[in-house]
Amino acid sequence: MRLDKYLSQSTDYSRKEVRRFLKMGEVTLNGEEVRDPSMHVNEVEDEIYLNGYPLEAPGEKYLMLNKPLGCVCSNNDGTHPSVLSFIDLPRANELVICGRLDVDTTGLVLITTDGKWAHRITSPKHKTGKLYQVVTADPIPEDAVDKFAQGMMLINDKVRTKPAELRITASNEAEVILTEGRYHQVKRMFGAIGNKVEELHRASIGNIHLDEDLELGEYRFLTDQEINSIQ
Ligand code: URA
Repeated sequence: MRLDKYLSQSTDYSRKEVRRFLKMGEVTLNGEEVRDPSMHVNEVEDEIYLNGYPLEAPGEKYLMLNKPLGCVCSNNDGTHPSVLSFIDLPRANELVICGRLDVDTTGLVLITTDGKWAHRITSPKHKTGKLYQVVTADPIPEDAVDKFAQGMMLINDKVRTKPAELRITASNEAEVILTEGRYHQVKRMFGAIGNKVEELHRASIGNIHLDEDLELGEYRFLTDQEINSIQ
């Protein structure tokens, strides 16, 4: 994006006003004074200051975070830190967390400013599959595959769970794909077949896969392809 466009879109100033600021030497790009309005800027990586104040890149933001144990996917529960505390962006507490992982679940969390996009991820109507990797206390019997596929009545719920895909990958390990996100759903589904989830990790949401280069607590911006993959 051109520098003058970036400046006017991330402030309330017109392009004309922005060009005046540039002429007056009031804009820095990665610490260097810049005056050329047609200069190309990278919206994600460049640090742009106007009159000494950092500007937030215009447009919606879409991030993936590798959630560690011990933090929550709400803004604050008074006991555990929020996943948003890892996000080093202005007004991070206004971001939307797309669906919740339990405090003892790790893995992929999507975070955005775009409420409609978040809704497409969380609404069961959109059938966006969430892939979980599970380690259980006891061996997982083969007939669990059919039980997950047929849907289950879970205690305190009024409707059956939607069909879920269960792939047993080792005697006490499996992958589960859910298209809904009920409270403690994976743990309760394994509970319903008399087993217990010992470890739970979310590896993907639709075609967005947790980036292996992200350490626990690290995040990165999504690519356009990842953003557009959520329909
Ligand atoms: N199901 C659970 O039980 N816990 C999670 O964190 C996510 C899905």
